[in-house]
Amino acid sequence: MGEVVVLGGSNGEHLAIELSRLSGFELGEIEIKKFPDDETYIRVLSDVSGKDVVYINSLQRDPNESIIETIYTLDTLSDLGAKRIIAIIPYMSYARQDSRFKPGEAISIQTLGKLFRSVKVDYIITVDMHLHRIQDPSIVFGAKFYNITGVRELAKYVKRNHIINYEKTVVIGPDEEAEQWAKIMANELGGLEYGVLEKKRLTAEEVVIEAKGVNVNERDIIIVDDIISTGGTIIEAVKALRSLGAKDIIVTTVHPLLVGNAYAKLLKLNLKDLAGTNTILSPISKVSITPAILEELVKIL
Ligand code: R5P
Repeated sequence: MGEVVVLGGSNGEHLAIELSRLSGFELGEIEIKKFPDDETYIRVLSDVSGKDVVYINSLQRDPNESIIETIYTLDTLSDLGAKRIIAIIPYMSYARQDSRFKPGEAISIQTLGKLFRSVKVDYIITVDMHLHRIQDPSIVFGAKFYNITGVRELAKYVKRNHIINYEKTVVIGPDEEAEQWAKIMANELGGLEYGVLEKKRLTAEEVVIEAKGVNVNERDIIIVDDIISTGGTIIEAVKALRSLGAKDIIVTTVHPLLVGNAYAKLLKLNLKDLAGTNTILSPISKVSITPAILEELVKIL
């Protein structure tokens, strides 16, 4: 392995610092600021010429701003002679807009892929990306693509911080798509029972959830979902589970977007615990995603 420099964008600096600490790779520096007219200014301060460069940036909080920052930085790294460029995008925005759900809509993730294809990126590592309708992300993004999961790190957290009653506990995904995460969580916690709820989305903020076919009466619940955005899904899931007699509820998520007043709304649910990873920094980012990223990175490097 040659020289490796780790660089963090505005939404990835905390992860770059952790990754450099954990791996011993050099932590590089980028100056990111705004011109007076609000345009983005990027300057790579570290020497990247001939080195493998690991650039980390989540495409949130401000997705559009983060995309511009990421594309400008990746292009600059290539201009400056980086050998291999590994983009770590812990949260890939626009992944849920992966189809034309209504006539005339932009398929935003495809356009984002085109932007990535327009710059030199050798590898992309992302975490629990919403990959429901994209067949081959390596083609869409023009780089070898690795979609790793943060659910194992969430499971380790649950194990470390809670005493689990194996007879009584069931892992729940709040919708069908979350079955994959419920299964991983249940396995990592020693083979717990798992199930999913039925969710219908009414608007971007409203969902209705029914708990059919899962016995939750008098049982403790661990909910796992990839994203908490407005909190609507979790709030409805908790209501449905409690109406059927569920006891203690722990909620976990990989990407705690927590938009608007979602955090306050979730606090009112009186959960046993509410935890997310730090793919996006939030008040519930209690679990580091860095070990999972490093594991994948080491394989690539
Ligand atoms: C949906 O497909 C995702 O897995 C999440 O359930 C969803 O994005 C959560 O959004 P919200 O918190 O706004 O209900």
